[in-house]
Amino acid sequence: MKEIWKSFIASLFINSILCAATDSINISESIRDGATLVSSGGMFALGFFSPGQSRNRYLGIWYNNIPNQTVVWVANREAPLTNNTGVLTLTEAGTLNLLNETDGLIWSTNASRTVQNPTAQLLDSGNLVVKDADDDRPENFLWQSFDHPTDTYLPDMKMGWDLIRGEERHISSWRSKDDPAPGAFITHMDLSGYPQIFTEGVRGVRYRHGPWNGVQFSGIAYIGSDDETFRLALEMNKDQVMYWEHVMQLSVVSRVTLDPDGTGIRWTWNEGNQAWSIYNSFPIDSCDNYNKCGAYGSCNVAESPPCQCLDRFVPRDPGSWSRTDWSGGCVRRAPLNCRDDVFFKYSRQKMPDSRNSSVIGGRISLDECEAICSRNCSCVAYARLNISKEGGGCLFYYGDLLDTRTVPGLGVAEQDLYIRMSSTESGSGRKKRATILIASFASVAGIVLCLVIILLCCWNKRRKEGAGAGALNLSNGKEAELPLFSLSTVLKATNHFSMANKLGEGGFGPVYWHRNLVRLLGGCIEREENMLIYEYLPNSSLDQHIDIDTQQIKVLTPQYVNTDQTKSRLLNWEKRFNIINGIAKGILYLHQDSRLRIIHRDLKTSNILLDADMNPKISDFGLARTFAGNETEAKTRRVVGTYGYMSPEYAIDGVFSVKSDVFSFGVLVLEIVSGKRNRGFCLEDHDLNLLGHAWRLYKEDKTSQLVDSTSVGDSLDTKQALRSIHVALLCVQKRPEDRPSMSSVVFMLGNEIAIAEAKEPGFFTERDVGIAHKSNATNSENQVSMSLIQGR
Ligand SMILES: *[C@@H]1O[C@H](CO)[C@@H](O)[C@H](O)[C@H]1NC(C)=O
Ligand SMILES: *[C@@H]1O[C@H](CO)[C@@H](O)[C@H](O)[C@H]1NC(C)=O
Ligand SMILES: *[C@@H]1O[C@H](CO)[C@@H](O)[C@H](O)[C@H]1NC(C)=O
Ligand SMILES: *[C@@H]1O[C@H](CO)[C@@H](O)[C@H](O)[C@H]1NC(C)=O
Ligand SMILES: *[C@@H]1O[C@H](CO)[C@@H](O)[C@H](O)[C@H]1NC(C)=O
Ligand SMILES: *[C@@H]1O[C@H](CO)[C@@H](O)[C@H](O)[C@H]1NC(C)=O
Ligand SMILES: *[C@@H]1O[C@H](CO)[C@@H](O)[C@H](O)[C@H]1NC(C)=O
Ligand SMILES: *[C@@H]1O[C@H](CO)[C@@H](O)[C@H](O)[C@H]1NC(C)=O
Repeated sequence: MKEIWKSFIASLFINSILCAATDSINISESIRDGATLVSSGGMFALGFFSPGQSRNRYLGIWYNNIPNQTVVWVANREAPLTNNTGVLTLTEAGTLNLLNETDGLIWSTNASRTVQNPTAQLLDSGNLVVKDADDDRPENFLWQSFDHPTDTYLPDMKMGWDLIRGEERHISSWRSKDDPAPGAFITHMDLSGYPQIFTEGVRGVRYRHGPWNGVQFSGIAYIGSDDETFRLALEMNKDQVMYWEHVMQLSVVSRVTLDPDGTGIRWTWNEGNQAWSIYNSFPIDSCDNYNKCGAYGSCNVAESPPCQCLDRFVPRDPGSWSRTDWSGGCVRRAPLNCRDDVFFKYSRQKMPDSRNSSVIGGRISLDECEAICSRNCSCVAYARLNISKEGGGCLFYYGDLLDTRTVPGLGVAEQDLYIRMSSTESGSGRKKRATILIASFASVAGIVLCLVIILLCCWNKRRKEGAGAGALNLSNGKEAELPLFSLSTVLKATNHFSMANKLGEGGFGPVYWHRNLVRLLGGCIEREENMLIYEYLPNSSLDQHIDIDTQQIKVLTPQYVNTDQTKSRLLNWEKRFNIINGIAKGILYLHQDSRLRIIHRDLKTSNILLDADMNPKISDFGLARTFAGNETEAKTRRVVGTYGYMSPEYAIDGVFSVKSDVFSFGVLVLEIVSGKRNRGFCLEDHDLNLLGHAWRLYKEDKTSQLVDSTSVGDSLDTKQALRSIHVALLCVQKRPEDRPSMSSVVFMLGNEIAIAEAKEPGFFTERDVGIAHKSNATNSENQVSMSLIQGR
């Protein structure tokens, strides 16, 4: 890995020496087919190429160091040269001309003005610019290719509207991979109502990004609003409305393309594999197909069928709706009467199409938004305009609400939609809802056979525990958005809680929908019983696959002998790596939101459940804490958690932050890779725990010895394993500030970029753990998490 990185740097360096003089041309120079212009940093090259199977010649820009030519811009998209006689020249007027062999003009640029000494230069961002030789200020460029993008968005490119010139900059797909002429799809910014980005084809909108909520476009599960890899921005003023992205990490090479079939894909270059990997794509699933469920319908990929009417709405045409023709959409079951309507809150929805909307900016509060909306009968809904902390303002909707979906991300949950409803809804809502839910529960119970882990827990005890920054609250003060099942239904489904149906017990707390989080199906609050009902995951928890009972197994040699061969054989390397990535994404999801962070505080193998496909799901939110956006850490006098996974600052001083979860994640990864537990780990020749042992091997360049070679099987990818261990060691650093954030963890796991050297980890000997025992922490000596002791 280090070698790859070194050679990459070296190649950049060599290129910058060899090519320093050839990143620009003046009026007395030209570029013929066969020659290239290379940017000063060596990143991009400009020259002539033939796409795919085509023999036509085009002038274009591609990555200079990437072996499989990846074109990011094409000049003469619609006017190909038929042979290699083309030549690019720069005129005194500052225009670029592409000429054929008889000096016929094939393609040219316009210059905004004339300058003394025009130069055409290829910048290291991939931008070809025409400028005065001595003037590098972007605002003075005569022309730049970034103003005329083709099918690729490059970092720092601005996309949207130049309101002064009345010009739009959009992305348009190629016709096919052999023909760069503008194809069937464009991705562009729509300024009607509030700005959104649409991908449109001949048959209309295919996909909608937006509207902008002050942090990102609504409805997109970006890798996180506090992502340390990408910064997103929408600049809105009287001169322009422009969207742009900036890559924060120099080593990350990223581009977004619009495929000939209309799919947007964000790619990142994987130096190790020498291939592009997909970071995310738009649309991401079938619910992203524009307006799939009609007006007031909401799409949810986790439901079957995916289209459901929003609460308090019914299908406009029940017949066609039941035949899965959802285009008719839904209508309010109780009509509006305008004067005494009320507003109901809808959470976790992608904001509807905002083309028929108006906004009020500034610091106006939600209550004022409601007052304004209720005064105008055509205002059907409102939302907070800018969800960032200092932001405010209102977004008002007129006309039907189109293209909403349940969003698989917390970031967007913050923008609640308030929909106008008849006042008759405010009284009668409850009963009808209960009937519907019990009915749907019956069907859920049918499908998910042995359905649930039932968590019996005592709310009162849990509430008293409430130290720290506010425990997760089921109802959050207002109406719980959780299906409620009657006790009798639950009794029936579990055969009166028979032991045969019992799978396990855990802590307590709500869990949001996500691929790598255990899904909460509903709850039951009746008499003395309070229950939460989770989806059932047949493969039980990860700890049962790693190491069954450390008390009975004394690990005497590095060659760990696994007692439960059948289960551990299920976990080959590919699955282990998938589990590591899944857990990382799950934690990232908890951490990523800028306004409501969730810190799990008790990450350990027994809290990672595996589904039938061995996908990991994080469970047990009993100790989880929510954090507001500006809070980064909190302190508790009562240290709860599990030894072996707790970070030093938490175990000793009770200080916890997202970085304490990162520490636990690091321990988890080392356990998964090695098949051994951190706590209880011992080798004859030293008193190091698993962290210390891993670090020692890492220092001695023998990291591969840590890998559980007896059970990872043939699928072992040594590079991946070493990388996982390296990342894990960074996660278990002693000082929280030395540990990476979860977004960089996810990135480092998925991309072979250079990563920092690990230093000595925290708590690397068993004696260290002893210090924690003597501190004010209340804990027991065994493996049981404190959540169990506290919880009930
Ligand atoms: C153009 O660049 C070449 C090489 O850098 C130089 O020799 C030549 O004098 C320049 N011509 C003008 C008109 O600046
Ligand atoms: C090179 O690029 C083409 C088209 O983009 C792709 O089909 C092919 O798989 C790539 N080859 C490699 C080795 O990445
Ligand atoms: C290049 O193509 C043009 C048009 O097809 C043709 O007229 C010309 O002769 C060709 N030149 C060479 C050198 O092949
Ligand atoms: C060169 O381009 C001009 C203008 O497009 C065209 O009229 C002419 O036929 C071309 N010459 C050749 C050899 O293709
Ligand atoms: C250049 O400007 C002229 C006149 O304003 C316009 O007709 C032409 O389309 C422009 N060309 C390009 C490539 O923008
Ligand atoms: C906007 O309102 C007009 C007029 O009511 C309607 O025809 C159109 O479909 C609406 N568009 C959207 C996207 O809601
Ligand atoms: C209500 O809002 C619509 C759409 O913005 C506007 O056209 C209409 O004039 C407003 N009506 C009143 C009474 O303000
Ligand atoms: C949202 O609010 C934040 C904080 O006041 C501000 O910095 C940002 O520019 C606002 N964004 C928009 C799009 O209004």
